[in-house]
Amino acid sequence: MAGAGISTPSGIPDFRSPGSGLYSNLQQYDIPYPEAIFELMYFFANPKPFFTLAKELYPGNYRPNYAHYFLRLLHDKGLLLRLYTQNIDGLERAAGIPPDRLVEAHGTFATATCTVCRRKFPGEDFRGDVMADKVPHCRACTGVVKPDIVFFGEELPQRFFLHLTDFPMADLLFVIGTSLEVEPFASLAGAVRSSVPRVLINRDLVGPFAWRQRHNDVAQLGDVVGGVETLVELLDWKEEMETLMQKEKEKLDAKDS
Ligand code: APR
Repeated sequence: MAGAGISTPSGIPDFRSPGSGLYSNLQQYDIPYPEAIFELMYFFANPKPFFTLAKELYPGNYRPNYAHYFLRLLHDKGLLLRLYTQNIDGLERAAGIPPDRLVEAHGTFATATCTVCRRKFPGEDFRGDVMADKVPHCRACTGVVKPDIVFFGEELPQRFFLHLTDFPMADLLFVIGTSLEVEPFASLAGAVRSSVPRVLINRDLVGPFAWRQRHNDVAQLGDVVGGVETLVELLDWKEEMETLMQKEKEKLDAKDS
């Protein structure tokens, strides 16, 4: 289970860290409270604040970091049953984790839907508009097109319901870089069997790690990259991580050039 805390080392602010989190830096948008930027009512009244934020978050401006590549290495080793992420930055895909191993629970910029005629489009079709500070409009009906980011009150993607079989099957749960503040995602932390160890890698204790610990919970507190590096050392996967990250860096450099 991953949250915005795994992407702050890539340069993307999280939501709730005091001072640096997105929700402490929305003064330039005229919205009544931070979460409104992800609420449909405000989006329909004025989509500009969301698209100004989308311009910052649009995939392609940032690169995966050590934490993402650790999750990719788990997949390469056949150990990753599924990665449930709340993040919309697409860095899990950019790290090479295949979509079938991913549940992007709060949606993605990879696709977009017209808010009037409900036509679906590839997210790439509107990158130009978003980067040019233009609100994207549907070619068919001129309605406003919204990236398939899950707004508060919206249904989560169908793939989220894979949790009904994934979590009972898991034999180890990582919870990385999330405040576990938002439902229904946060409750997944309690969906693994009581015999299954839960490992939190986060700046601070959150959710059940703070108020309903289990005997076999483990918390590695502090910076997420430092925490993952400690685990990689213990697993003796340092070499493999360096090789993987070098290979992926070359791929991304080639793509950029
Ligand atoms: N190292 C360790 N922990 C970190 C780091 C870091 N470099 N950066 C941030 N964190 C921790 C923060 O301390 C916090 O506990 O990661 C957590 C991030 O929490 P949030 O900012 O609330 O992000 P997230 O949990 O992903 O938010 C969930 O809220 O607004 C909605 O839809 C939005 O998906 C988002 C959801």
